[in-house]
Order: sequence, then C-alpha cells, then structure tokens
Amino acid sequence: MFAANATPIMSGAHVGNKSDDEFYSVEVAPDSVFLVLKRYQNLRSIGSGAQGFVCSAFDLILQKNVAIKKLSKPFQNATHAKRAYREFCIMNLVHHKNIISLLNAFTPQKSVDEFTDVYLVMELMDANLCQVIQMELDHERISYLLYQMLCGIKHLHAAGIIHRDLKPSNIVVKSDCTLKILDFGLARTANSNFSMTPYVVTRYYRSPEIILGMPYKDNADIWSVGCIFGEMLRGTVVFQGSDQIDQWNKIIEQLGTPSNDFMERLLPSVRNYVANRPRFPGFEFERLFPDILFPADCRQSQLTAASARDLLSKMLVIDPLHRISVEQALNHPYIKVWYDESEVNAPAPKVYDHSVDEQEHTIEEWKQLIFDEVSRYEQLAIQKVFGLFVQENGSADQMPQQNMQENASKNQN
Ligand SMILES: Nc1ncnc2c1ncn2[C@@H]1O[C@H](COP(=O)(O)OP(=O)(O)O)[C@@H](O)[C@H]1O
Ligand SMILES: [Mg+2]
Repeated sequence: MFAANATPIMSGAHVGNKSDDEFYSVEVAPDSVFLVLKRYQNLRSIGSGAQGFVCSAFDLILQKNVAIKKLSKPFQNATHAKRAYREFCIMNLVHHKNIISLLNAFTPQKSVDEFTDVYLVMELMDANLCQVIQMELDHERISYLLYQMLCGIKHLHAAGIIHRDLKPSNIVVKSDCTLKILDFGLARTANSNFSMTPYVVTRYYRSPEIILGMPYKDNADIWSVGCIFGEMLRGTVVFQGSDQIDQWNKIIEQLGTPSNDFMERLLPSVRNYVANRPRFPGFEFERLFPDILFPADCRQSQLTAASARDLLSKMLVIDPLHRISVEQALNHPYIKVWYDESEVNAPAPKVYDHSVDEQEHTIEEWKQLIFDEVSRYEQLAIQKVFGLFVQENGSADQMPQQNMQENASKNQN
C-alpha cells in the first residue's frame, strides 16, 4: 500500500539510528522552519501559541491528517523547560477522548549536544474555541461543548491535575462539535499570587481563588468553564481585566463584593487590598445575562435559557465553597442530557507525579531531561512496533513492510 514511500516510512520508525535523510525541512511561516520526518507531508501553519507554531500535516503511515507542534529550544529557560517537560509527561499519562493525545514525538537532532527542537504529533482538530465562541451556537451545541469540557476536566482531576488555566485558545473542536483540551494548565508551583505584576498571559478565565493566591480545589476549573460559557452567550470576554488588579475589579463589579467570611480566608496582605476596594452590590444574573443573549429554547427539551442561566449562576460564584462542583455540574439538567458513563467516569489514569512541578534544574540539566524523555518515547514507539510484529509473526527478520506499517498505525492510534 505504501510501496512508493517505503524508505522514508521504514526509516521513520527507526528513529534510534537517525540519519539526516529521514527528515526534510519546510518553511511554514516567514522565519519559521519545521524539520520533520518524511512521513509527515503537506505541512501548513494552523496556529501559534506561547511555545511556537503548530502545523497540520498528512501522515503517510497513519494515512490521516495530524497536528504537529514544534517546541523550539524548550530548555531555553526554566519556565519553558518545566512547561514542555510537564506537557510531555502528562500527555503520556492521560488518555481520554476530551483530552488531546500524543500520536508521536520526535527530535531531528541525534545527540543532546546538538539538541534544539521537539516535535509533538497530535490528532488534528478544526479550530480552537476562540473561533467558535464568535459563532451563533444553539443550546444543543453549547451544552454539548460544556459537557465535553467537564468530562475532560474530570479526567484530569482523576490524575490529580487541577488545570487552573483553562482558556478558549487551549481548547480545540471539530466541526462535528467534538472537543479536546490541549494543555494541562499551571504547575502547582506556578506563581499565581495576587500582585502588581503586569499581565503577560491571558488571565481572564482564572478563578478568584487562583488570582488571590488562596487554597483551591477541583472547582477552580468550574470558574473557567463558567467564563467560557458566559462568553459563548455574550460574544465578549466576561471579565476582561487590563491587569491582575483590574481583573478582580471586573469580577466584583458584576458579581458583587464577596462576603466577610470569604475575606477572612484571604492572606492578610491581599485582604488588606481587597477589603479596601469600594463595595459593589453586583447584579442579578437576569441582568448580567438577559434573555436576548440566549438561543431559542429547544422544544421538548430541558435545554432552555432558564436552565442555562441557572447553571451559569452556579458556576460564576466567587467563593469556591459555594460554587458548584464538577460532579454537580455534570448532573445539572442543562448538561445531564449528554451523560454517558464511559465518558464521565472513564478509567482513571495513573496519578501524576507532582514532583515534576517542584523540580529546579539548570538549562543543561533540563536539556538532558527533555532529550532523554523524547528519546525514551522514540525507543518505546519502535519497541511497540517490533514487539507487536514478533508476537504475531514469530520473527522480525521477515517482517513485510505493509504489516509493520499497519502495526505502527495500530500502536499509535
Ligand atoms: N491538535 C490541534 N488541532 C488543531 N489546532 C491545534 C492543535 N493544537 C494546536 N492547535 C492550534 O494552535 C494553537 C496553539 O497551540 P497550543 O498547543 O495552545 O500552543 P502553546 O502551548 O504554544 O500555547 C491553538 O490555539 C490552536 O489554534
Ligand atoms: Mg496555548
């Protein structure tokens, strides 16, 4: 089936003994070159983020389109390195239909001394949620998207990962309305204390407890889902602060100053600032999200504006002690219509080792760690391919090419 492409595909699996002719380079955007395995063809830039470019490509082995993300010099500083290493470890751990999965990972460099780039190959989706939020969505689509976000989050929680930084650019969807979460949020040690530090990243979706440096639990992620839900209705960001302090202002102007009980749980320095802000009474949810923002009610269905607003008002609650939990949200009438046990309660992954988050290393050490991790992944992929073949056919020597390719596909799916 792949006779014409035999050499590159075969060598594409033999990443242990890399040679330069297994790779080719493509300029995917001005000043951005991808150096990828020849099995990946037709590269086109489809997005960019904090870590660099993402391209779509056609995979000759899997015979399908994939997304390839290039991490350039992921070890260049501790923040990049920890993020890349963490993303890689978690992607290896978590397998759920609402979380993006890794199909392959490789580096074109042969040794740690030459090492600069990592390429992560993932399932290809059609758009990120920023693009979808702008569309007129009906109740069915809104509730189905929310349901899938909640299933993905629940699965991350089962691995001990509270995301804390969910945002539309890190959620991708297909035209059939299926959804996957792209990243795994803040490391537990990330500095998220309330301070005057200007914004570098989007924090519109971060929960009050994260912004204010308070203890948090699973439902920190519900706040983010609530912000995304509200944005789907309004078509604009719900709490669009110009900096960390303004972010808090935008929240209390709409939802009202929280109770003294909440204030008492703040760190003294933060409490001092927060308690001295003017007091805001906040608005009813009917005022914040009037009927006109909602799609028409579905006939013979629980998917109504009243039900949607009820859920939203339970998600956008400043005090996490009074905010709905992930479990309760999944059982809310606006979401429960989609409930499928195998999606909601998929087998829990192994628990994520948070010591990754605590690790401090020099640039050289990060470089080695990330290189080792990618090499380990490359080796494992080869072993799986050969292991499967030997199991089925007895000897690796007479392995017919097509069989190997099929095994590779099975393995990587
Ligand atoms: N698997 C994918 N399918 C479709 N688009 C993707 C995929 N992965 C990333 N993208 C696009 O690329 C953008 C950046 O990807 P992301 O993983 O968030 O990069 P970063 O970690 O640098 O922020 C996303 O917002 C999305 O638009
Ligand atoms: Mg991103």
